[in-house]
Amino acid sequence: MTDTPTSKPHTPKALGMIVDALMYILLLTQMLYVFTGNTIHEFLGITFMLCVVVHIVLKRKWIKAVFKKGRKVSKARRFSDVVTLLLFLAILTLAVSSMGVSRVLFPWYKYVGSPALHTYLATTVLALSVVHGGMRGYFLAKSKKKVVVLIVLGAIAAVAIGLALVPYLNRHFKTVSITYSEKVAGRKITWNGGKTLVVYFTRLGNTDFDEDVDAVSGASLLKANGELMGSNQLLADMIVDAIGCEQTAITVTGEKYPSSYAATTSVAGKELSNKARPAIVPIDTSEYDSIILVYPLWWGTIPMPVATFLEQSDLSGKTIYAVATQGSTGYGSSISDIKKCAPDSEVVKVTSIYCDDIPNAREKIADLLEEAAK
Ligand SMILES: Cc1cc2nc3c(=O)[nH]c(=O)nc-3n(C[C@H](O)[C@H](O)[C@H](O)COP(=O)(O)O)c2cc1C
Repeated sequence: MTDTPTSKPHTPKALGMIVDALMYILLLTQMLYVFTGNTIHEFLGITFMLCVVVHIVLKRKWIKAVFKKGRKVSKARRFSDVVTLLLFLAILTLAVSSMGVSRVLFPWYKYVGSPALHTYLATTVLALSVVHGGMRGYFLAKSKKKVVVLIVLGAIAAVAIGLALVPYLNRHFKTVSITYSEKVAGRKITWNGGKTLVVYFTRLGNTDFDEDVDAVSGASLLKANGELMGSNQLLADMIVDAIGCEQTAITVTGEKYPSSYAATTSVAGKELSNKARPAIVPIDTSEYDSIILVYPLWWGTIPMPVATFLEQSDLSGKTIYAVATQGSTGYGSSISDIKKCAPDSEVVKVTSIYCDDIPNAREKIADLLEEAAK
């Protein structure tokens, strides 16, 4: 069959529009990985990258034109070109970081494996895509001002989705079910940290969870063999399994934290600004050489009950191995705050684990601890 003169130019245009729409849908769907799960997220990621390649092939004439010498263009066109170039670079970097955090498709790739960086790059790609797509509307529209306002609002919305909505959904709607022994049991390590106590803090056990906690907030909660479990507790159990030491939880004795995640953040925020030291069940550390402190980041630092533990225990001369967990902020200021609370101890950074990665952290944490106490 031969192409009619009218059918030929229409096919790529229609294909281009479909690919463009698909790319936006894929980007947004990928950001909702809390609902799709990791495996689907990774396959959607590959599909997105394939769409990018198709998009570039379809736009090859335009790309050639951009690089033509002596091309005279308006300021708006130049701005659009710069955005496109930045978007291209952001997508390339996102591809590398996607491989770094991949657990299913690229488990062998070990570079740029920061989930936080991955989140920032994905947000950047979404925001730049909005501007990139919006500029097309700008060139076509009569009322340019309206389009500019829409582009700015769209970019702000993209940043808010990436940096606020996605982490919010992640913490509020996700309950992860695991088989306890599969996640906790593993290689025993050579531990040179002397007699060691693992001290952990987690929401579970310190929170007034409602009976129907799953409906209220799956918030970073785990179900190990069908039972709720704090993710920092799971991490502590992994460490105990790897080292063969003892462990204890930091437990508040006064009012517990509220069931709702948002309310907990508000209480924790007030505690931090008031430098509160909530009362806890005393922990005897006298017979130990080292403490492995497993704690979640709260407002970019240690939760205040952890500060209580550090200040009321005599930790002088002991080594504190810091194992943090978090939703994006690495160690925040937790290390310097631990040092302030325990000035006569040596504080060793072990790792800061992204909350989603905790159930699969067994071997990594064992390796890092072995390395930290060498
Ligand atoms: C009150 C509160 C404040 C938090 N603040 C931060 C934060 O500043 N930065 C961060 O990356 N994660 C933050 N998170 C997320 C927790 O660090 C993360 O979900 C952790 O893995 C929870 O562990 P758990 O389930 O054992 O309590 C916060 C969580 C809560 C409840």
